[in-house]
Amino acid sequence: MTQDAKARAGEVVLEAIGLTKHFPVRRGLRKLFSKERPAVHAVDDVRLTLRRGQVVALVGESGSGKSTVARLLAQLYPRTDGDIRLHGESTTVKGGGAFRAYAARVQMIFQDPFASLNPVHTIRYHLTRSLKIHHNAGKTDADLENALHELLTQVSLTPPERYLDKFPHELSGGQRQRVAIARALGARPEALLADEPVSMLDVSIRLGVLNLLRDLKERLNLAILYITHDIASARYFADETLVMYAGRMVEGGDSETVTQTPAHPYTRLLIDSAPDPDRLAGDADPLDEDRGNGEPPSLINPPSGCRFHPRCPSAMPRCSTDLPVRLEIGDVPGHWAACWLYDAKAEVPA
Ligand SMILES: Nc1ncnc2c1ncn2[C@@H]1O[C@H](COP(=O)(O)OP(=O)(O)OP(=O)(O)O)[C@@H](O)[C@H]1O
Ligand code: SF4
Ligand SMILES: [Mg+2]
Repeated sequence: MTQDAKARAGEVVLEAIGLTKHFPVRRGLRKLFSKERPAVHAVDDVRLTLRRGQVVALVGESGSGKSTVARLLAQLYPRTDGDIRLHGESTTVKGGGAFRAYAARVQMIFQDPFASLNPVHTIRYHLTRSLKIHHNAGKTDADLENALHELLTQVSLTPPERYLDKFPHELSGGQRQRVAIARALGARPEALLADEPVSMLDVSIRLGVLNLLRDLKERLNLAILYITHDIASARYFADETLVMYAGRMVEGGDSETVTQTPAHPYTRLLIDSAPDPDRLAGDADPLDEDRGNGEPPSLINPPSGCRFHPRCPSAMPRCSTDLPVRLEIGDVPGHWAACWLYDAKAEVPA
């Protein structure tokens, strides 16, 4: 396949298959639990696919395992089980040159742009480093200067010379996040893993940064994973939405369908907890508040069967014993839920 053909929108870039991460519990805590070698079951059996030119939203409340999925996909730490495939090839990197080569193709954007930029270095330093680490760009000073200008222009920080020699603290939160995005683009990635990229920004500028990411997705044909608490922004921004609860995927499908006709009781709870249809203009994450629907379960000893059963208004006896499989909801292709309410439906093939 030619490079051009490879770059076509819709091409699979990155896949997670059966992705699992259990963090061992520290020795001091172990004696509190009777089972041998207790662990936090942060992510279990996660399956997702990122395609060129598409945004996949990963939605769920705090502690559901979203950041762990992103960090696993970025290969920032080893997985307990499962596979990560880059263009269909199973990929495990353990640091050094292999990690740099992988990171050039799969970049992360973190929630806090201030923490992710070094306060003692200028914007020029951060961007130059990204260009040099990944591509040894800038054979001459003029080449480097052009590449720096292009990066800042891509994130609409113009004129670039106004920003290049500033320090992070001299910029606003939104400008810092744009620099973090420009730094990620310096690697010329195929996939961006954006972990709550706007949640720490002032509400008035969130939409601008999401629009920038959407614009970059289209112009650069990027595959984007968009992690958020905010299911309303997923509808606005993502092509596909996946809902995660207590380390497991519980529903997925195109964003319009998942947000407008949710099938899983947990997704319905998420949407009912977010009464403001213009969440991007709101100022609080609805899932940070206890809406009287119970607490997320312990992930050291997660509930058997469906992990949502202790909170589920529709729970049936089998829900506490049998782990639900992905079932096709049927009305819209690709819409599925892991819930026994849909037992009569076909199982989604692995
Ligand atoms: N390094 C770690 N060691 C032990 N437990 C961890 C570690 N990282 C995450 N966890 C646990 O794994 C679970 C999932 O955490 P994660 O940060 O992935 O959730 P999240 O969905 O991103 O939450 P938030 O919305 O608050 O960012 C949590 O119970 C968390 O305490
Ligand atoms: S499987 Fe059972 S407990 Fe889980 S969401 Fe469906 S009905 Fe509720
Ligand atoms: Mg997180």
